[in-house]
Amino acid sequence: MIQSESEQEFEALLNYLKSHLGCDLTIYKRAGLVRRFEHHMYQLKINNYIDYLEYLKNHPREHLHLLNTILIKFSGFFRDRDSWNYLASVIIPQIIRNKEPGEQIRVWSAGCASGQEVYTIAILLTEILGIEQYLERVQMFATDVDTDALLEARRGSYSTLEIAGIDDKLLSKYFDKNFQNNEQRFVIDSKLRRKIIFGRHNLTLDAPMSKIDLVICRNVLIYLNSETTPAVLVRFHFALKDNGFLFLGHAESLIKSENIFRPIDIKHRIFAKNGNLTLEQYLLILPTNLRKKKAIMNTQTNET
Ligand SMILES: C[S@@+](CC[C@H](N)C(=O)[O-])C[C@H]1O[C@@H](n2cnc3c(N)ncnc32)[C@H](O)[C@@H]1O
Repeated sequence: MIQSESEQEFEALLNYLKSHLGCDLTIYKRAGLVRRFEHHMYQLKINNYIDYLEYLKNHPREHLHLLNTILIKFSGFFRDRDSWNYLASVIIPQIIRNKEPGEQIRVWSAGCASGQEVYTIAILLTEILGIEQYLERVQMFATDVDTDALLEARRGSYSTLEIAGIDDKLLSKYFDKNFQNNEQRFVIDSKLRRKIIFGRHNLTLDAPMSKIDLVICRNVLIYLNSETTPAVLVRFHFALKDNGFLFLGHAESLIKSENIFRPIDIKHRIFAKNGNLTLEQYLLILPTNLRKKKAIMNTQTNET
């Protein structure tokens, strides 16, 4: 494929970020990435990729700023409400039925942004189980690659605009009101928050969680390119218990992973773990360097 000069410069920039700073942005869809880069450079008053590369080399923390600015972290409570209702009325009761009394329920919000998604599921689980059972039985993991977003998520403090999706009864039950800098804030109940382990985790690089009953990964895969998405879905398969569920975003679907998940409700993007990983899929869980090594070894074994 013939590349323009600007495309080659952009490629060189991405290669530098990956090889020198461990920041692999090649996993994202290219068009959106270019748009967000240009916006970031415009704000720094830099108008070409070569100058930006120089800037990056001279500012050791710039790649962290870059990452935190170009990742889309828009989120909301009860986003796609019908799907959350379905989850609460069909899927969570099913997860509970699959358990022995008192057995742990493990949930992973992957790409949790500023926390609205994980607090939504925490509220639903508390409504269904009651606060005592929630505190005793639920283990929640909320991860994201964006450290600024994780800070906000841990804080669990939201503006009037941000809590608009929560109905009044739940709002008064699960949030405390306070004033910060003359602004009304709504802070999630600390009992709910304390059960959630927040952590930085890159879905394409870091080891997946394990023994999870429900993986929630909404509005993250849409930003990934079509080679990266199957590798992330394989990691979710690995993370889930045999009878676990995967909840994707409204506009997301299984790409090259139809053999490892069974649709439960397509409209609400809820899937059940199904079948086993093929060797090729299993290799996708390994870090890229090991994956290449194994692939070479396999080719050699096949040849002998
Ligand atoms: C649009 S937000 C979605 C937030 C939430 N899941 C929701 O639907 O409301 C996308 C999130 O995915 C995170 N993300 C993007 N790439 C990621 C990666 N490779 N590993 C982990 N998180 C990632 C971004 O930092 C951002 O917080």
